[in-house]
Amino acid sequence: PLPDAFKVPLPIPPVKRPVRSDAKADYYRVVQRKASLEILPGLKTEVLGYDGLLPGPTFDVRSGRTTVVEHVNQLDVPTVVHLHGGHTPASSDGWPLDLLMPPGGHQEHTGHHGMTGGDVKTGSRSYTFPNTQRAATLWYHDHRMDYTAPQVYRGLFGLHLVRDHEEDALPLPAGEREIPLVLADRAFAADGSFRYPARKDGPGVESKYMEGVIGDVLLVNGAPWPVLEVDAARYRFRVLNAANARRYELALDRGPAKFVQIGSDGGLLAAPVEHETVVIAPAERFDLVVDFSQYEVGTEITLLNKLDSGRAGEVMRFVVARKAADDSAIPAKLSTYAERTEPAGAVRRQWRFRRGSAGGHEGWTINGKPFDPQEMQATVPLDQDEIWSFVTDVHHPVHVHLAPFQVLRRGGGGPGRYDQGWKDTVDVRPAEVVEVLIRFTAHRGKYLIHCHNLEHEDMAMMAGFETV
Ligand code: C2O
Ligand code: CU
Repeated sequence: PLPDAFKVPLPIPPVKRPVRSDAKADYYRVVQRKASLEILPGLKTEVLGYDGLLPGPTFDVRSGRTTVVEHVNQLDVPTVVHLHGGHTPASSDGWPLDLLMPPGGHQEHTGHHGMTGGDVKTGSRSYTFPNTQRAATLWYHDHRMDYTAPQVYRGLFGLHLVRDHEEDALPLPAGEREIPLVLADRAFAADGSFRYPARKDGPGVESKYMEGVIGDVLLVNGAPWPVLEVDAARYRFRVLNAANARRYELALDRGPAKFVQIGSDGGLLAAPVEHETVVIAPAERFDLVVDFSQYEVGTEITLLNKLDSGRAGEVMRFVVARKAADDSAIPAKLSTYAERTEPAGAVRRQWRFRRGSAGGHEGWTINGKPFDPQEMQATVPLDQDEIWSFVTDVHHPVHVHLAPFQVLRRGGGGPGRYDQGWKDTVDVRPAEVVEVLIRFTAHRGKYLIHCHNLEHEDMAMMAGFETV
């Protein structure tokens, strides 16, 4: 039986503290370990967690100040850490074969069909994130070749917030009224363990889960259908869809409040945008303000998921607990972020996302090829505007490492209503073409483009490209 809804208070992941700091950088240490957590009331679930948590601790850092994280692997599987949305040198970007082996780990774990060639370390490794980017809601998660989906499913994900002066100067809701909402869905066995339909004879999932793994329990910040008591005031919610494959269409079950979107994957929008509902695909982030002062004290407001019904049609609940002063505001101009105009004669590249065969199994491909870590599908000069088009068969949330992009066109028209601002993941709908303007800067090396439906990613819907 599923647990009752709206009983568990919304947990807030703890903010990670540095072990030391110097003039330029803050140094952290994270232990990747197993832990037994009470996710469903009265049951224990074994997770793989950063510091044993699900979600992992939140990094809260400043733009331009370097974060160095030593990750210690105390698990029984190799791992790879990737900072999603990070402007990160290739050596710390989490190339899928740059494995961090557990102590005493076996080399046969080095990936798909025994492929090797990554920068393999054992026990611990340090990742350097320069955070040379504007304020934004980033996240970090596992990126091990062929096994990202089961390892993220078991808990290896967390938030990484970048702040800057431009954002600090705005009167947005802050402190207790700035709340992360990390969405994820999971399926559980009767004993409380996660139920993930891994193939028995290799990476990927059982063939009936080719479209991706969907769970029947909706978690927010690791708790099932939680409840949050709020003041009758404005709140800023940093919403991340950390689910492997589920899309949500978020809505409030009663007005008059609406969602006011202030930011996207890559930071603040130029100006706020109002939405009745928000469709969020895996790996996307929406920075949303909700004004609860529009409700009487005592009102219960349920956050719905209109893409599903029954228990999966509800996500969490807000209870307006008290009247309170509120000096926050949503300025009409949020950011100097300016839309770039489409350059004439920009280099164009096309990326086709389709079902196909991968390593003799049914899988997913980009431009007809399953992921091959030895082969770069493109060589991309730095500091050059390019127009990339993403072409799909079925729904694929397409993600590019290293640089954010701006959506130019979707399905022949202009950008969609959820495409504003800088994005690093765009939800490309069935048989659609989305064109984006992208420009890579600063870091030379091997980076990835892939589908962020994690089952698709593990079943080879990923390609390397090299910036030069
Ligand atoms: Cu969120 Cu390549 O990753
Ligand atoms: Cu996909």
